[in-house]
Amino acid sequence: VTPSKEPDPAVLPAYGCQRRTPLAHHNAMLTEALETLARDAAFGGDETRSLAFTRAASALKALPWRLGSLRDLAALPGIGKHCRRVIQEVLEDGSSAEVEAVRRSEQYRTMQLFTGIFGVGTRTAASWYQEGLRTLADLRAAGPRLSRQQQAGLQYWEDLATPVTLAEAEAIRELVQAEARRILPDATVTLVGGFRRGKPTGHDVDLLLSHPEEGREQALLGPLVASLEQQGLLLYQQRQPNTFGQEPSSSSMDQFERCFAIARLALPGAGDPSARRATRVDLVVAPRSQFAFALLGWTGSRHFERELRRFAGRQRGLALSSHGLYDPQRVRTRGGTLWGGWGAPYAGTRAALAPFCC
Ligand code: GTP
Ligand code: MN
Ligand code: MN
Repeated sequence: VTPSKEPDPAVLPAYGCQRRTPLAHHNAMLTEALETLARDAAFGGDETRSLAFTRAASALKALPWRLGSLRDLAALPGIGKHCRRVIQEVLEDGSSAEVEAVRRSEQYRTMQLFTGIFGVGTRTAASWYQEGLRTLADLRAAGPRLSRQQQAGLQYWEDLATPVTLAEAEAIRELVQAEARRILPDATVTLVGGFRRGKPTGHDVDLLLSHPEEGREQALLGPLVASLEQQGLLLYQQRQPNTFGQEPSSSSMDQFERCFAIARLALPGAGDPSARRATRVDLVVAPRSQFAFALLGWTGSRHFERELRRFAGRQRGLALSSHGLYDPQRVRTRGGTLWGGWGAPYAGTRAALAPFCC
């Protein structure tokens, strides 16, 4: 039985990173409705609207009781008019006509399908939809226009759409660590992403690689990927070099060396040793001096990270990224603009950007 109590306006702090946001919470019907609208707004390119729905859903996840009436909304920060209307509809009718219409719409369903493919972002999916493409078969027929990554995503779609379990993720971490330590005996491999937040399943396995000695980690990923590939364990891999302090990056991605891969792994517990399936694996390499920030940044969730960075900026006057926590005032200009990976530029050099703590 969900506890019910009078709303306390002080119950929920304003920033998502200040609240506990449990996986199992009391308001799933409402958050699923709001998150559907958040996804739909993002599919339409309206990030601001999408964020408003995501924020409302996030606050509801943190509410320690089941929302019973609109009066309870007084306890929640930042619920706009549109969200209120949707919440009211769900409370009164058990569902929202707007949300149900979105869920049924061909555009939403197609966008869900297409953006779920490895290598396909919102813009690509939207342009395919505009062209009249609707199914995976349509995409397969359009073959030549797909990138190598998208072709792999399509080829292994069925396997990749099957959730990865924690046991599988642990097994992959073990395997990658054993391989990494053959190359560098003290290399560390940490399971991050949703599994580090306690999720029992995920869409991929996120692994953060490092080495206790600063700089040694640079010699890790190349040989590691080559070795995995030689053993026939990779179906796809795409490496990116570390660009921290080198080139401005306007995306929200960080600038660590990384490899987006599709691994081909034996299923734990499967009787047939040839039973293997494709699994998405992200390998990220952080130097020791940035490890703490990389660990924090790659643990997620996406919304938690966004809120943490907003809190750092607005409430503490600090800039947080997966590379460090900086005082923008104290970063001196010595030529060259450095981008921290969260979208806001600041001036400085790599040397001037010593993180506060690690
Ligand atoms: P599932 O994989 O679906 O279980 O969820 P997840 O939370 O693990 O998501 P995902 O694998 O997409 O990403 C893991 C975390 O790393 C997320 O919280 C992201 O914020 C973060 N992340 C992923 N890619 C990047 C990136 O390029 N740059 C930065 N800074 N963070 C990233
Ligand atoms: Mn993940
Ligand atoms: Mn990932």
